[in-house]
Order: sequence, then C-alpha cells, then structure tokens
Amino acid sequence: MQGDKKILYSAVQPTNNLTIGNYIGAVKNFVALQDEYSCVYAIANMHAITVRQTPADLRKNTLSLLALYLACGVDPQKCVLYLQSHVPAHAELAWVLNTFTYVGEMERMTQFKDKSAKHADNINMGLMDYPVLMAADILLYQTDVVPVGVDQRQHLEITRDIAVRFNNVYSPTFTVPEGIYMKVGAKIGDLLEPSKKMSKSSENQNGVVYLSDDRDTIMRKFKRAVTDSEACVRYDPENKPGVSNLLSIYSVFTGTSMEDCQKQFEGRGYGDFKLAVGEAVADRLAPIQAEQARLLADKAYLDSVLKDGAARASAMAGRTLSKVYKKIGFYQL
Ligand code: TRP
Repeated sequence: MQGDKKILYSAVQPTNNLTIGNYIGAVKNFVALQDEYSCVYAIANMHAITVRQTPADLRKNTLSLLALYLACGVDPQKCVLYLQSHVPAHAELAWVLNTFTYVGEMERMTQFKDKSAKHADNINMGLMDYPVLMAADILLYQTDVVPVGVDQRQHLEITRDIAVRFNNVYSPTFTVPEGIYMKVGAKIGDLLEPSKKMSKSSENQNGVVYLSDDRDTIMRKFKRAVTDSEACVRYDPENKPGVSNLLSIYSVFTGTSMEDCQKQFEGRGYGDFKLAVGEAVADRLAPIQAEQARLLADKAYLDSVLKDGAARASAMAGRTLSKVYKKIGFYQL
C-alpha cells in the first residue's frame, strides 16, 4: 500500500482505435477509481509488439492513447501514468519471472491459443510470454488490486500463481493482487451481432463504434443497429439482445439507471430509440474528442507527462526489482 490507499494497476495497449466498449470497460473506470486508489496506469507498448505493428502507427497510437487517458479525466498528478517501455524494470522482472513459469502453463492460456490461431504466421515467443510480462507489470508495483474484465481473468490468475510461487521459494516479496470485477456495462455488444462482444477485429465495421468516430458516423451506425420485431424497449438480454445492448449503452453514456431508461422509452418506437442512443453517445464523446485533439497538438505537454510518469514509475518498480535481485542471488554493487 502507498499511504493509506491501496495500489491499483491497469494498462491498455496502444493498438489502433479503441471502441466505446473499451471506453466503458476500461478508461471510464480509470477515472472513477483514481480517488479511491493509488492508481498506476500504463500504456502497454511492449505487449503491443507481440503482434506485428507498423512503427509509425505504434508511435502515433501511443500519444493518442495518452491524450485519450488525459481527455477522459485521468489526472497525472493523482495517478502514475507512464509508457511501459520507459521503465526497463518490466523487461528485467519478466525475465526473472520466466524462470518461475512453466511452458505448459503458457501453452494452455486461452488468449495465446486464440492469438496463435489468428496470427498463425507469427507465433513468436513474445506472444507466448505475454502473461509473464503482464505479471511483471502488476507485481513490480506491489499492486493490491487489478480491475479485470472476463478476457483478462486468466492473466490475473497466473500472475497470482507466479507471485505465490516466488514468495514461497524465498520469502514474501510480492503483494498477491486481487481482481476487482467491474459490474454494469462491463460488456458492450456489437451493434449488428449483439451477443458478440464489440471488437475492433469484427468483420462488419458497422457494428463497431470507435471513440474516434464523428457524429455522422456514430448516428449512421446506431440507425442500422439490430433490434427485434416486438417494438417494445425492454431490457431482456436473453430474448432481446439488440435492444438490451442499446439500453445498456444508453444507460452508461447518460448515467441513467436501467429502470429510468426503460421508462423514458415506454411507448416509443425503435427508430426514435436508436436515434436517442446515438445522440447520447455522440454528445458524450464530442468534448472528449475535442480535448484529445487539443492535447495532441501540445506535444511538449504530453512529453512532460510521460517523463514525469516514467520517473515515478521507475522509482516504484526499482524498489521491487532490487528486492528480487537480492533474493535470487544477483550480486549487487
Ligand atoms: N493485456 C491487457 C489488455 O490487452 C493490457 C495489460 C498489459 C494489462 N499489462 C497489464 C492490464 C497489467 C492489466 C494489468 O487489455
């Protein structure tokens, strides 16, 4: 723990466009959590290169994600906000943790199997080692809690296993992190196939709304959203996945309870309803996009945030790494 607050760690990869699902599932929560916890937020560019990246895009997406964090309200005074590759301790601890991780465990990871199938021409060691680097991220900061969605649950479990294993061989070194599982709106569905998670890798891009989409694009996508033939705006994910997904989006983007949302649309048609959801999303994103653009034009400021973040992160991470090196018998000067 840092002061009286628990340490919370999270990271997002600077790959491509984030969807409104990423916003709801991650970035929006980052802001909500920063008062209650001592937060450490990273831009995980070292994880990003486990699938081939275009260098110029990776650089651009890094600043764009940083600007987005800031535009959404992540406060670099309250949090430690940094770029993963600026803190060499991540790679260093990952190497040590590799010797506490079994090949079989990594081969069995769901995400590794999925990504191997998808990138069959580039099943590199980094892809397999991805969870160990993630464990290094988390354990370096003596993290108490990690907010996790379903897709990261297995990664947190392996992090805990590795931490316990190391602690048992030597003596307590790492805090064993707990997951906090976010409730409402944790999963936004595709607008055209609402029972599938909204994902940038989706084939039909009309079902995916990006944080960078302009108002016209957003409205067009929501107008085309799949509903059903009942003509009743009611939350029932089992039988009405399309309408329920739209209701969830409306609820999180306007901060209205599901009950009030349903009341609001009582007796109104789907056309009307879809327009209202699109508008709520566009209205909410407009100021964020404007602020992100303003920040991206101020590179000196963005660099200063990264510089400060790297210094603070390095200080925290260095303490843990030095403990680890001592315990495993690395001769230190
Ligand atoms: N793998 C995470 C993702 O793709 C990103 C990430 C990297 C992360 N390191 C982390 C998340 C540590 C939580 C904690 O979403």
